[in-house]
Amino acid sequence: MSQYFVIRGSNGKPTLSGEIAVLGAKNAALKAIAASILFDGPIRMENVPDIEDVSRMLDIIRTMGGTAEHGRDAHHVLVDARGIMTETLTPEIAKRLRASIVLTGPLLARRGRVRFPFPGGCVIGERPVDLFVESFEKMGATVRRSGKFFDVRAKKGKLHGAELFFRTQSVTGTETFLMAGVLATGKTVIKNAAMEPEIVWLADILNASGAHITGAGTPTITIIGGKPLKQKGSKAFRVVPDRIEAGSFLVLGALAAKELTVTNIIPEHLESLIETLGYMGVAIERRSNSLTVRASGRAKKLLPIVLKTHEYPGFPTDLQAPMTVLLTRAAGESMVFETIFEGRLNYTESLGRMGANVTMMDQHRVLIKGPTRLSGKRMESPDLRAGLAFVIAAIVASGNSEIHNIYNIDRGYERIEERLRTIGARIERVEA
Ligand code: EPZ
Repeated sequence: MSQYFVIRGSNGKPTLSGEIAVLGAKNAALKAIAASILFDGPIRMENVPDIEDVSRMLDIIRTMGGTAEHGRDAHHVLVDARGIMTETLTPEIAKRLRASIVLTGPLLARRGRVRFPFPGGCVIGERPVDLFVESFEKMGATVRRSGKFFDVRAKKGKLHGAELFFRTQSVTGTETFLMAGVLATGKTVIKNAAMEPEIVWLADILNASGAHITGAGTPTITIIGGKPLKQKGSKAFRVVPDRIEAGSFLVLGALAAKELTVTNIIPEHLESLIETLGYMGVAIERRSNSLTVRASGRAKKLLPIVLKTHEYPGFPTDLQAPMTVLLTRAAGESMVFETIFEGRLNYTESLGRMGANVTMMDQHRVLIKGPTRLSGKRMESPDLRAGLAFVIAAIVASGNSEIHNIYNIDRGYERIEERLRTIGARIERVEA
């Protein structure tokens, strides 16, 4: 049965208030699950978000022969990849989950072979894998593509270290080869590496388990290969807070809250958003692990900006859609320049139908003229970040909205409607 959200808008009035806690980062948890393949034994994780993408990644480990189960609650996960008996990523799941590509590094490094489906494009863009193919070859593997499948074999069954330079910074590319280097013979150097906090966290948990990784969080990461890892002591790996979920809630607060405090966060991971909101005139209070925002009243105008997405620590592309909703409220002409993905502005057509003044200049740039009021509409969630942006827009719009295709939202936000109701949003999940 398909479900959809029904949201009653506040007609531009700031009605939300209270506190909302951020959960563990989707884009960290998914990679730690993949990293279990590097271990000689199970790994225990906590603060794991209970979301569809995590369930799918655990399904891949199980269907390949590993075990994955929840501990005392859905946020505690134990993964043991030792039972994996195949080198083929489960196609029906892998081709729908781009993140599954990070499994290729550990599998190839551990078992000498990996077969995986081309992860394919999605609404935000083509999602090529050329960096992966080239880097596997540099580490001593042969790559054969037959149809939609890649078959990668390490010569003599073992990868060797190599010097890799990524023409474009790639988050999953960096993570895949950081993990491959952990079991390759010799030294691997990744240059022009992505610097996301989730990569630093991944390197930290691997180093705590016997890996030798230096430079995570900088453009050059060096990995000295060794033997399979072991989780030390009884402490579970605690997943780093989700900076994208945190940022989405802050934007919601800036639009629709009398006062909203977002807790369980690491403000240092949100500097770009904090600076941008502050520049626009949004009132923000910062504490060590929380941020409080207030929507500015009618009198106080929000400044328009040129928003340019950029690899970390620049403005995150995953916050571009929620931010664009806020820009409809800014007094003047803003431009959104999505530099990373070529298909990540298509959702703005739906904002236009809600009443936003949006002009698509090309597939990377839109102009937003404000302030405009938004009216509720029936919308389809094209991907998880635009889907949440539609929820944010619907909460402040006049009238009711329906948001369909909400599996896309459940992929990355746990029980989102329940959590938003606790701060005053009028949102219900309905069975179609
Ligand atoms: C990761 O995607 C995240 N996904 C994305 O979050 C995020 O938007 C993106 O990084 C950028 O921050 C996960 O971590 C699972 P890229 P990823 O490889 O790694 C080009 C979400 O909503 N490229 O960093 O797939 C590519 O076309 C998702 O949680 C190549 O050219 O993104 C893009 O232009 C959406 N060749 C650029 O690099 C390659 O072989 C950055 O993509 C690989 C990538």
